[in-house]
Amino acid sequence: MQIRPESFDDRAAVYAVTHAAFTGIDPMVEPDEVGLLQQLFDCAGYDARFSIVALDDAVVIGHVIATWGKIGRQPMLGLGPLAVAPEYQHRGVGSILMQQIHDAAESAQLSGIVLLGSPGYYHRFGYEPASRHGIIPSDPTWGEHFMVRVFDRDALPRGDFRYASPFGC
Ligand SMILES: CC(C)(COP(=O)(O)OP(=O)(O)OC[C@H]1O[C@@H](n2cnc3c(N)ncnc32)[C@H](O)[C@@H]1OP(=O)(O)O)[C@@H](O)C(=O)NCCC(=O)NCCS
Repeated sequence: MQIRPESFDDRAAVYAVTHAAFTGIDPMVEPDEVGLLQQLFDCAGYDARFSIVALDDAVVIGHVIATWGKIGRQPMLGLGPLAVAPEYQHRGVGSILMQQIHDAAESAQLSGIVLLGSPGYYHRFGYEPASRHGIIPSDPTWGEHFMVRVFDRDALPRGDFRYASPFGC
């Protein structure tokens, strides 16, 4: 397996993996996450350092992205979507992508990353409820699903988090 930053030429394959990973009952219906990704690639919050692909034999099998949102005036990364092709799930690809994006964040000396997701999956990567650190989501119903991975507690901003504009929140 190879892990590297996503490039423009990967995008059709990234959409296909995201479609397959998030597909619902009807595989012909495009999951919302595909349209969201298309907008994230074009938005001001996109940062190529935080869009990472996993490949098997030069074929994209997984992708993770984090884009710049804000806490007050301070920039803060929001992670998602994360997707692994169904036939490659349960082999550690998601974990490797998460490790890689955390390494990129730490190299950039970021204080933390937030996300909305399943605590059952993300606790293993060190995510905690964001409310514990004074980071407030735009939708209070997100509750414990809105989480933060802290890299530098002292530098972590507190306040209302807003995702990059394509999230609409
Ligand atoms: C979630 C996802 C990225 C995990 O990728 P993966 O490569 O299978 O992850 P890993 O192999 O590193 O870890 C697998 C473990 O994660 C756990 N897991 C996976 N999805 C989970 C979920 N939704 N909730 C809780 N735990 C979950 C399982 O314990 C699994 O262990 P198992 O293999 O013993 O069953 C992948 O399942 C996926 O693309 N799902 C559809 C899209 C999605 O839900 N993305 C995340 C949005 S929050």
